[in-house]
Amino acid sequence: MFAVYAESFSPESPLDGLVLGERPDPVAPDGWTTVTVKAASLNHHDVWSLRGVGLKQEQLPMILGCDAAGLDEDGNEVVVHAVISDPTWRGDETLDPQRSLLSERHQGTLADKVVVPRRNVVPKPASLSFAEAACLPTAWLTAYRMLFTRGGLKAGDTVLVQGAGGGVSTACIILARAAGLKVLATSRDEAKRAKALEIGAHEVFESGARLPVKVDAVMETVGRATWSHSIRALRPGGTIVISGTTSGPRLDDAELTRIFFLQLSVVGSTMGTRDELASLVTLLDATGTKPLIDREIALTDAREGFEAMAGGDVFGKIVFTR
Ligand SMILES: NC(=O)c1ccc[n+]([C@@H]2O[C@H](COP(=O)([O-])OP(=O)(O)OC[C@H]3O[C@@H](n4cnc5c(N)ncnc54)[C@H](OP(=O)(O)O)[C@@H]3O)[C@@H](O)[C@H]2O)c1
Repeated sequence: MFAVYAESFSPESPLDGLVLGERPDPVAPDGWTTVTVKAASLNHHDVWSLRGVGLKQEQLPMILGCDAAGLDEDGNEVVVHAVISDPTWRGDETLDPQRSLLSERHQGTLADKVVVPRRNVVPKPASLSFAEAACLPTAWLTAYRMLFTRGGLKAGDTVLVQGAGGGVSTACIILARAAGLKVLATSRDEAKRAKALEIGAHEVFESGARLPVKVDAVMETVGRATWSHSIRALRPGGTIVISGTTSGPRLDDAELTRIFFLQLSVVGSTMGTRDELASLVTLLDATGTKPLIDREIALTDAREGFEAMAGGDVFGKIVFTR
């Protein structure tokens, strides 16, 4: 089958190890199912894999990709859940110490076919195209869990989303708006601020700008560059939910005094469960909300998408179609 895979690692020049070519058809173990991929989306995770983060040399070649939508063995339209937990694990899959994401231990989704545990497929509603559904399993599921599970936000609350251009951030803006929240967003870039308004932010600000109100929660994926601002944006008792550190994990000032004095909560969040993916799909179906697609590219031209992602020239998701 046709596949997009990592053949070698290069921390400095990650695309050097990217290969588009033939790989053997996967064989589904007992309890697993084969999904024929109709659309798959790209994440920073795939570029990090090419840099050698999270993968070992002996695992190569590894087909990249966490996200997919397609047809199961009975021809049903499905969305793939990317978190693979141990078969013996019960409860929240994201808490399983043995869990992995597709393309970390098991072959990924940027291919004609992918095999996953039967439990890892969720029905795709007709209201979402394959390309739209393929945006959901990583960035959108992460945003859903950050806002509603870990952040505990509900209609009428006010949220600040830092770094408006990223895949998780754009999903946070759109989902928060769909769920009836007041949405504030920051970006360093004027054009991205304008786009953030278009997709649902009520107000946008330059990164680090003083805000007119204190917020109930901040959705943080930028890390070092925005941490202090995030802490200072919170009302007493507010919550910062963090799922990424794009600008780096080390802080000059963790704002510890504010954290205890204002009784703030610092909450980590990673991916989401199969049930949260099903709830996310239902939320989109019920509200008519659509994932934001930056561009759709044929899987056979995947290198173009990787170049755009590595260059940071993206607003929304890059989707590969078959
Ligand atoms: N935990 C999980 O399950 C999970 C899942 C998905 C992603 N992630 C992580 O979440 C993070 C976000 O990923 P992503 O793909 O959505 O977005 P991304 O493209 O990595 O970037 C997010 C935003 O960060 C801002 N940014 C970057 N450097 C900055 C700096 N020096 N100063 C201020 N802002 C800066 C940019 O905002 P502006 O240009 O608009 O200012 C950018 O749009 C990554 O670290 C990723 O690894 C985690």
